[in-house]
Amino acid sequence: FRTLDDLSPLGKRVLLRADLNVPVRDGAITDTTRIDRVIPTICELAGKGARVIVLSHFDRPKGRVVPSMSLAPVAEMLEAKVQHPVRFVHDCIGPEAEQAVASMKDGDVLVLENTRFHGGEEANDAEFTKMLAGLGDFYVNDAFSAAHRAHASTEGLARFLPSFAGRLMEAELNALSAALEKPDRPVGAIVGGAKISTKLDLIGNILGKVDTLFIVGAMANTFLAAEGIAVGKSLQEADMHETARRIVVEAREKGCEIVLPVDAVVAREFKAGAPSEVCLIGEVPADTMILDAGPRTVELIIERLGQLRTLVWNGPLGAFEIEPFDTATVEVARGAAALTEQGKLKTIAGGGDTVSALRHAGVADKMSYVSTAGGAFLEWLEGKLLPGISVLTDAAQHAAPL
Ligand code: 3PG
Repeated sequence: FRTLDDLSPLGKRVLLRADLNVPVRDGAITDTTRIDRVIPTICELAGKGARVIVLSHFDRPKGRVVPSMSLAPVAEMLEAKVQHPVRFVHDCIGPEAEQAVASMKDGDVLVLENTRFHGGEEANDAEFTKMLAGLGDFYVNDAFSAAHRAHASTEGLARFLPSFAGRLMEAELNALSAALEKPDRPVGAIVGGAKISTKLDLIGNILGKVDTLFIVGAMANTFLAAEGIAVGKSLQEADMHETARRIVVEAREKGCEIVLPVDAVVAREFKAGAPSEVCLIGEVPADTMILDAGPRTVELIIERLGQLRTLVWNGPLGAFEIEPFDTATVEVARGAAALTEQGKLKTIAGGGDTVSALRHAGVADKMSYVSTAGGAFLEWLEGKLLPGISVLTDAAQHAAPL
């Protein structure tokens, strides 16, 4: 695909698809990462004299105008951060948007309202896409985290306008390719989370690519139970035992070593501060549940990370949102961060929970790369082609020289 290096945007109207879908609680933005990470692209384009028209979805209004899902507060935050006037318009198509675009000067930045206020966005409707396309001369996609959606502003626009990847998109794709496509070996993956059933495709895809797979979180309980090991009242999927056993066999055939927890922190109740104890796997009392990996597991994982060159991380080791069951996640995160800082390990992390866990451990900025993507990161780990990316690649192949 083409990047900003291939684009001369001076005096041109550039439709920039960002992912400004930031988390909000009680009307306040709780994390500005996605805003922060698109700023270099906005500043580069504006600095080169483009008229930058920012498009994004926000939340899931399902084709209706939902005032609480307006991008207005996000545009305000963006303005404060870029220290450059940012205009906002209450629709992404129609006369108001057209007039605002027509009155732009070189270097101006305009944010248009939530694209999902129109049903045509998610339907990837050609008429709606044409209306958006009419506002720009070029399309720059910087929304890796929305690239798993084949929507008008993430996929359709690339069929109507000369298309380019923004700097964040480039960075995400480079990091991901360094993680699994051509990684420094040995490469390992930490895969955690509640259920194998939601991570089956992911495990299937990475088994043949990584040398070591650490299966952690409640998912690990299913693997243990499948081997006939008692896990008490722990969360596990009884209908996935056969699948878990098949994964273990397949891993062996592919030369991938699966590492499971060797001890656990168990409690009788799932609540903050519940009395807990550490026990070895195989000795979990029948009336308790596993809520975190134990200290020996943490030690084992950190020691094994020391033998790797690359680590892909998706999913926490325990119920990290409730103390003290965040301990293993925090300690392994700090261990990985230390190895990364010493230049011994390249750590690439992504997925909603993982990023909050790393932030909670205070090490999100110490990893080699932390993706802004949740679902898109998972789909990429599953080996799926992301529509927002394949269309950029196709568009570049069929593009007329600029
Ligand atoms: C995300 O937050 O993962 C992206 O912005 C995509 O949002 P969506 O799941 O509502 O499509």
